[in-house]
Amino acid sequence: MMRILALETSCDDLSCALLETPRQVLSSCTASQVSIHERFGGIVPEVASREHLKAVSQVVQKVLGDAPEEKKAFQAIAVTCKPGLVGSLLVGLNFAKGLALAARVPFIGINHLEGHLFSPFLEQEKITFPFLGLVISGGHTNLYFVEGFAKYQCLGVSVDDALGEAYDKVAKALGLSYPGGPILDRLAAKGNPLRFRFTLPQVKRGKYFTSFSGLKTAVLEEIRAHRLEQIAQRQSIEESQPALDLIASFQNTTTKIVERLLIQASEDFQCARWALSGGVACNSAIRKRLGQVAEQKKMELLIPTPKFCTDNAAMIGFVAAGYLERGVSSALSLNAQASLEWENH
Ligand code: KG4
Ligand code: ZN
Repeated sequence: MMRILALETSCDDLSCALLETPRQVLSSCTASQVSIHERFGGIVPEVASREHLKAVSQVVQKVLGDAPEEKKAFQAIAVTCKPGLVGSLLVGLNFAKGLALAARVPFIGINHLEGHLFSPFLEQEKITFPFLGLVISGGHTNLYFVEGFAKYQCLGVSVDDALGEAYDKVAKALGLSYPGGPILDRLAAKGNPLRFRFTLPQVKRGKYFTSFSGLKTAVLEEIRAHRLEQIAQRQSIEESQPALDLIASFQNTTTKIVERLLIQASEDFQCARWALSGGVACNSAIRKRLGQVAEQKKMELLIPTPKFCTDNAAMIGFVAAGYLERGVSSALSLNAQASLEWENH
């Protein structure tokens, strides 16, 4: 058993957790920047990294301060090193390196997507293989077939907008604040999901590739046709039935796309286990629909509780534990990386 201090600063949240292997979170803290980026209608990278720099030492000290007295010592430091906003990643990476040197413990850089991929197992007794892992977030819509620890292949990604990004852009067009996903999710329950019919995308690049920009454009066209641009700034959106119906129909379509993708991969790979992660895995319609399908088809469905769906440091520490147990750590010269080749990760 060992304790790992984990840091995650790849985007706009700064998250730190102290994890006791294999998966017990002893203390954790996340500093959200939502109220800052809300004003700009999206994330401003330069602002995000500066905010991380201001908050990082306080957040780490809080996590260590909140941990039980006899468990404050840690034996390794893990940090997200890719993919993400480089300025944001560098803040966490450099802080972790400095702390590793000062505390004389090993340091390891972790792929953020691998963190998400394994996050559904943070609340399980063990990791069960194989599984189809779908990461749906503001930056990614990646489907993986995972056969073992560090043994996975990316089957496909979105060829354009990520699923969360499509939610955020539709919300922005309606005049709703950032991030739009949770707001649209709540409003969708009040609309008729069958009023607007949107076609499901056919992506030439391969059957596990998705696309959300066509759907987003079709929704934006309906927004214009019904004069719903920025409606949330003119009246309460709850009072506009066309807006509520449009949101419900959009959500109905995103749910169908996710469902179709997972069913197709399950058939092809003869795999009856789905592990969903990323911020959009909080979505109530997706959770509900996949729950029903999983029951009908006798599939095992794993989705983390919302705090482990969105960006968090516990998932980074969890994956780090797997590598450290296998004797893997990183050199202090490790650099941050903005993006990954989809084929490899
Ligand atoms: O994983 P995450 O916290 O950060 C990234 O790595 O991107 O995901 C954030 C994304 C945002 O696009 C947000 O709108 C979306 O997840 N999101 C949701 C819901 N909760 C968060 N989208 C749809 N329904 C939700 N309930
Ligand atoms: Zn993420």
